Amino acid sequence: MTHSPRSSRAGGTLGQACAVAHPNIALVKYWGKKDGGGNRPAVGSISMTLNGMATQTCVRFTGSGGDDRIRLGGAEADANTHRRVRALLDRLRRYVPDAGAAEVESVNDFPTGAGLASSASGFAALLVAAEAALGLRLSEDERSCLAREASGSAPRSLYGGFVEMSTGQSPDGSDAVARPLLPPADWPLHVVVAVIREEEKEIGSGEGMRRSFATSPYAAAWVSSHPADLVEAREAIRHHDFSRLAAVSEASCLKMHALAMSARPGLLYWRGATVEALHEIVALRRGGHEVFFTVDAGPQVKAVCTSEALAAVRERLLSIAGVRRLIVCRLGEGARLLAPEEPCAGGRDVRRKVNQ
Ligand code: DP6
Repeated sequence: MTHSPRSSRAGGTLGQACAVAHPNIALVKYWGKKDGGGNRPAVGSISMTLNGMATQTCVRFTGSGGDDRIRLGGAEADANTHRRVRALLDRLRRYVPDAGAAEVESVNDFPTGAGLASSASGFAALLVAAEAALGLRLSEDERSCLAREASGSAPRSLYGGFVEMSTGQSPDGSDAVARPLLPPADWPLHVVVAVIREEEKEIGSGEGMRRSFATSPYAAAWVSSHPADLVEAREAIRHHDFSRLAAVSEASCLKMHALAMSARPGLLYWRGATVEALHEIVALRRGGHEVFFTVDAGPQVKAVCTSEALAAVRERLLSIAGVRRLIVCRLGEGARLLAPEEPCAGGRDVRRKVNQ
């Protein structure tokens, strides 16, 4: 797609900028890509942006040649991450050909690549920081498209609260963009993340989707049954109808995992404690607590609940052998630039590292 017509250079010299973004969890899941490139999602999705976890990314353009220097969590990024980050930077450098190589330093204060949406917060923070460092002023849709080309879930982290990502109709993907549905303060839910394994998953989402669509007999049914789930979740969010949102979210989660499991070879992202946690959450709900589960492409379980249910949810999840720790979140804000005087998330001064 072309981004140039509406984007403009804000002026000023090339510089550096830092941004923070939060992961999001999908309630109606994205799984599968359209053919033809552009990382266009095969289905729309609806998510919640979380506040209890953050990616902090600082970008500096050097104005001279050479390779981009990309560090993640204090170490050189692996080849795959390096390639994906450079691809996004290259798209932005089209507007500013003299930008030169970039120095990128990114820190997550939560496990990376373990089904906790680190690519969503990571690419959202990278985009916002790099755009500012280049002095660009992109439109919201351009920002969504650039984030989506890097990672399909990343546009959702550009916004806070409940967010919908559209699959779009246009062949160039220009309408495959995210839109906010409800700001965080409007429905103060909690999300309790039960961390079951901190290690990186073996099969990333991109490969998982490719394999599911290439081999599962359920892929067509997943796509054709998806629009109804989006309508249902949108309505539930609009009316703050917890039971309705619980029903459609759990159904979408189980449907996505059924699709992944039915690939060849099958993709089983769950561990034993994942299944235990799902049973406990359903039991809590039967006992009158407002809580439901969702699981992304990893073993961690996310329990979405009301304030009244929070204490019981925490206690029950912590009682499961195999749950290592809990991360308790509320709905969070969208990605934003950090002011120069703001401290960095995760307690590390990333800015200083970029300058080294
Ligand atoms: C299971 O956004 O990580 O979390 O577009 O290949 O980067 P890429 O995939 P990614 O996939 C997320 C999949 C999911 C469901 C969701 O977040 O909607």
